[in-house]
Amino acid sequence: MPALSSSDLVAPPPAPRPVEVTDLDAYRRLHAQSLADPEGFWRERIAPFRWTRPPDRILEGDGPGARWFVGGQLNVADNALDRWVDEGHGDRTALIWESEGVDHLRRPLETRQYSFRELRDAVARAAGALRDLGVRQGDRVTVYLPIVPELPIAMLACARLGAVHNVIFAGFPDQALLDRIEDSQSRVVVTADGGYRGGKAIALKSVVDAAARRTSLVEKVLVLRRTGEPVGWTPGRDHWWHEALERATPAAPVPVASDAPLFVMYTSGSTGKPKGITHGTSGYLVHTALTALHAFDLRPGDVNWCTADPAWITGHTYTVYGPLLSGAATVLFEGVLGFPDWDRAWDVVERHRPAVLYSTPTLVRAWLRQGDAGPRERDLSSLRLLASVGEPISPSVWHWFRDVVGGGRTPVVDTWWQTEAGAAMIFPLPYVTPAKPGSATLPFFGVDPAIADAEGRLLDGEAAGQLVIRRPWPGMLHGIWGSPERYRDTYWKSVPGAFVTGDAARRDADGYVWIVGRTDDVIKVNGHRLGTAEIEGAVVSHPAVSESAVVGVPDERSGEAVLVFVVLKPGFSADAELESGIVHAIEAMVGKLARPRELRFLKALPKNRSGKILRRMLREWAVTGKVTGDTTTLDDASALPPSTDGELVDHVQRGIE
Ligand code: WT7
Repeated sequence: MPALSSSDLVAPPPAPRPVEVTDLDAYRRLHAQSLADPEGFWRERIAPFRWTRPPDRILEGDGPGARWFVGGQLNVADNALDRWVDEGHGDRTALIWESEGVDHLRRPLETRQYSFRELRDAVARAAGALRDLGVRQGDRVTVYLPIVPELPIAMLACARLGAVHNVIFAGFPDQALLDRIEDSQSRVVVTADGGYRGGKAIALKSVVDAAARRTSLVEKVLVLRRTGEPVGWTPGRDHWWHEALERATPAAPVPVASDAPLFVMYTSGSTGKPKGITHGTSGYLVHTALTALHAFDLRPGDVNWCTADPAWITGHTYTVYGPLLSGAATVLFEGVLGFPDWDRAWDVVERHRPAVLYSTPTLVRAWLRQGDAGPRERDLSSLRLLASVGEPISPSVWHWFRDVVGGGRTPVVDTWWQTEAGAAMIFPLPYVTPAKPGSATLPFFGVDPAIADAEGRLLDGEAAGQLVIRRPWPGMLHGIWGSPERYRDTYWKSVPGAFVTGDAARRDADGYVWIVGRTDDVIKVNGHRLGTAEIEGAVVSHPAVSESAVVGVPDERSGEAVLVFVVLKPGFSADAELESGIVHAIEAMVGKLARPRELRFLKALPKNRSGKILRRMLREWAVTGKVTGDTTTLDDASALPPSTDGELVDHVQRGIE
């Protein structure tokens, strides 16, 4: 085995308890085996799960249609809950929830805890209620809930019936909700009167009503009472959660085939239309559970705190399914972690004593800006492992996280993956892989990353280019809901035989992977994925706007920030009212997550001769103030004539608070 060569290596801390993989050579042997002999590698590792029918074959096929654990049958909720109860762990804590609101002593106004038995019973009853509303195996259920225990309960209840959950972030506006209800063809929606976020009550039921008015699809709405605000009511369609659950008889888990869909998760891509990333049953379960073990060392009885909202993929996999499939307790925090201030996170750690804290660089930077006093003065000794996801973590932030939050004792597990991946793909084994701060390091078992050039040729050794995955992995998406062609064209076309991630990356001499950014028109704001085309669509919906181009620019707080270039129709000029109208259009159609940092008004957009907007040029101009690259492709009528050295003509620019 080649020795690691770099000087930026940080030795891993010793394992606090025995681990399966004890050194880097063992990791390399197992990784090689996982690729060469999937049957031998996975067969023994899937044995602990409760299969109603064990799979005949581990892996079948290749490329977009590959399927894992073929012929097998199980139920994910059964494995996450009933299995632990039946194995005698029913009294262990499964879920710890605290409200965002606090009293004058910073104590949460409400907390709720569920043991595995209590959570199993709540899920079985919720599943019974959904069944009473007509939900059957394979049906899609849209879940639009705040971060309360009923959110994971609704997800697990769907899984229990073999129904497909489609969880929508509770901050999305009615337009985004409607698009996702329609695309997934959901006849049932689970929501609440409202929720609490950032110290405010937000209405949710009225958003569902607004969406449901514009489609004939929604037949049943199950409504949780959370804020107690008055809600509109459509008799026959709307049902209170508490009443429906009281009436329901608990539902037993429905065994489903390995390749049956478990959930749809909408995410942004290069076009204006979000993609319904569809995940299956057994592959997702195996990848999720085994990464919970190998990336986060989660075992029965541990306490896990993943700060991600269950409405995002990180929350699906590591706030809900991963810990429960591991027999660990998961901490669920209701709102925004800056409430009442950024020390709230340390209150949560002291109160619930998680071993694992999994978060985003955006959040770590927010903590860091507050200084060291908060984390240093608090008892964070329960933390055994810190982890990060969503954007590159800079070395200085990595070190601060480990030294100040982790007291210098913990590994920092930088996990690279994406909605399509299902579970973590590239990360250091916490007690084995020497870290290089800023690099997600080496691939998990079964994951075969490679670097391809712009033409799709795979590159050897040290290389930079597009990050691709050369073969199917267990948690791999099963497709884009309702769009098999889009699935193949987006991911499986430009590099023969490989899955194209959309990320640009570098592989160093040690084989470590460094994520550089996206190769498509996706930007990451606060770790959330936004499609520039979706935002542009909202901007041009404004009656004064002729054209728009949206780019992401580096931002100290949010990683990237949204910058909107606007060309107005003749006769309109930029003023405060018009600007707020454009911002409003973005918030109403895409959501507040896409709120721009700045609008810039131009006479024209730079385009090439075939009319394609040169976003890269706009981005460079926005970041550096000039354009250095080749401008000869510019169309003559463009806004960036080469002769002006990249100075845009006739612009006003304004920051948005
Ligand atoms: C994109 C996926 C499931 C992860 C949460 C977001 C970026 C993710 C890292 C990392 C650098 C990262 C990539 C990826 N990303 N993890 N550790 N280092 N960049 O899931 O919304 O689907 O976004 O987030 O660009 O493609 P997502």
